[in-house]
Amino acid sequence: MDRAAFVDKLNEDLELEYQSIVQYTQHIASLKGAEYLSTLDELAVHVQQELVHALTLARQIDFLGGIPSTRVPAIGELTDARSALEADLKLEEAQLDRYRERVEQAAELSLPDVAGTLAPLLEQTQEHARDLRAALG
Ligand SMILES: [Fe+2]
Ligand SMILES: [Fe+2]
Repeated sequence: MDRAAFVDKLNEDLELEYQSIVQYTQHIASLKGAEYLSTLDELAVHVQQELVHALTLARQIDFLGGIPSTRVPAIGELTDARSALEADLKLEEAQLDRYRERVEQAAELSLPDVAGTLAPLLEQTQEHARDLRAALG
């Protein structure tokens, strides 16, 4: 993988962070059910971290000579709370796989600074997936 392909991957990661922000914003405001109240508080923490993830990715893309994407992927239709949280978990798990790859690729491209900058995203994405798995039981 060359740097240009790596920047393209970072831009796809950025778009998925936009998806997280939009999806969590809708879910935090809309999901109902006493059993999910504490989960909604956790999602409110996640969504703030997703904005930091998006900013981190956008800055790395610019640093590597790319232009940060503004494309937001399509969000699935809202049905019930459980399906919404399952969609959130699926997205977090996909992001976790992607960040694992990205940290390795950055190291392979001799960009340890970029790999180090992405490490907190990897760690927080694992936490988000863990929170959602726990909420879904
Ligand atoms: Fe994120
Ligand atoms: Fe997340």
